[in-house]
Amino acid sequence: MSAIPQKATGEIHIRGGVRLQGKVKIQGSKNAALPILAATILAEGESCLKDCPKISDVYRMLRLLQSLGGHVRWEGEGVCVSTGSITTQDMPADAITGMRSSLCLLGALLARCGSIVMEYPGGCVIGKRPIDLHLQALEQMGVCFHEEGGRICGQAPKGLCGAEISLPLPSVGATENILLAAVTARGCTRIEGAAREPEVEALCRYLNACGARIDGIGTSRLEIQGVRRIHGATYRIPADRIVAGTYLYAALGTRGCILLEQAPCQHMHAVIHMAERMGAICQVTREGLYVQSLGELVSPGLIRTGVYPGFPTDMQSIALAVSTMASGETRIEERIFEDRFRVADPLRQMGADIRQTDPCCLRVGGSCRLHGERVRACELRGGAALVVAGLMAEGETIVTGCEYIERGYENICKDLRELGARINSV
Ligand code: EPZ
Repeated sequence: MSAIPQKATGEIHIRGGVRLQGKVKIQGSKNAALPILAATILAEGESCLKDCPKISDVYRMLRLLQSLGGHVRWEGEGVCVSTGSITTQDMPADAITGMRSSLCLLGALLARCGSIVMEYPGGCVIGKRPIDLHLQALEQMGVCFHEEGGRICGQAPKGLCGAEISLPLPSVGATENILLAAVTARGCTRIEGAAREPEVEALCRYLNACGARIDGIGTSRLEIQGVRRIHGATYRIPADRIVAGTYLYAALGTRGCILLEQAPCQHMHAVIHMAERMGAICQVTREGLYVQSLGELVSPGLIRTGVYPGFPTDMQSIALAVSTMASGETRIEERIFEDRFRVADPLRQMGADIRQTDPCCLRVGGSCRLHGERVRACELRGGAALVVAGLMAEGETIVTGCEYIERGYENICKDLRELGARINSV
């Protein structure tokens, strides 16, 4: 497979003030595709993942799989991966530290190879991103960890065995790692307090399509009966609920009228409900989600993030951007990550009235008129929020740091141009 396609990761230029209109097809989910790609390490034979998003985090994960000996080919509307011979000898360090989702290689490689040495996966500006819950759970399944030269070394000399695991908080990544370690472990694994995010559900469905035996899918109590081996499968990656939510809130903020084709509405209730409280009219149709926002943009009062099915933390920055122009004051409470307000500074540059009242709370004075500025993205969802703010602002906004946005959005400029936005990447 060729190297990661190099796009112009320079700047995004936006001339705001246009009501979004039209329709756009929603890409496959980044946070479903990444753990499923890691799971292909467990499958004997080829897996083909339809609608796998063409984003830099996926390219990075594919590069990792290739460095482990996997074979990758893009075919039609997806990517096919086979991992016949796997060796952990020369995993590139930068690929591991470069993104958080490489962490789910931990469970897959321990299950497949019985040992792993890897760099501590990248944290990022939204928080420390500890991995204590991952390590504790895998130790219960028979893994011994130690640190060597700043790297994690794990061995499962007797192989992995099922365990009764109770998670003190429903960590998405820890739930995924336990699943990947448990599907071919000896005996049964029960997870109490598992994450219920749709991306965890998608991983379970892919694994069961490969012959795994997982019960309780979609609930916080998962039971995995270990099997000797699993085979490859063809699986369609579900649409990305955060990308769909991003464009939904862009339509809300620009008073537009759009159709989000194939939006995963069944997993967007909190996001849709919040948009309706802010003035959007949303209708679930066979084609996807139809959004009309012609009336006044009003504050919902409080936006508090929570684990699924609560309002997703990945939508917080985007909702913050829109709330700056809503009438009435909005209180934003971020309850998942401890440092997810970095986008407030560039939004203030654009004229927003945002005060941080404590580490996890913002107060947003509404009805401000955003004006175009040159602003810098420093992480994925904050970058998307700056694009949405640019669509709403008067004048031209230039967003730099677009490599962060490309981690999760296939082509945000193309998607928004299809909805009538005056936006270009240069
Ligand atoms: C996943 O991150 C997503 N990433 C995140 O999306 C998403 O925001 C997050 O889940 C919450 O939904 C991927 O799926 C690749 P967590 P993850 O473990 O697994 C604490 C995006 O923008 N925690 O559920 O890292 C942790 O510090 C990204 O697409 C521990 O304390 O999230 C955080 O406060 C951003 N110890 C909370 O749990 C641990 O061992 C939730 O983290 C693990 C986590």
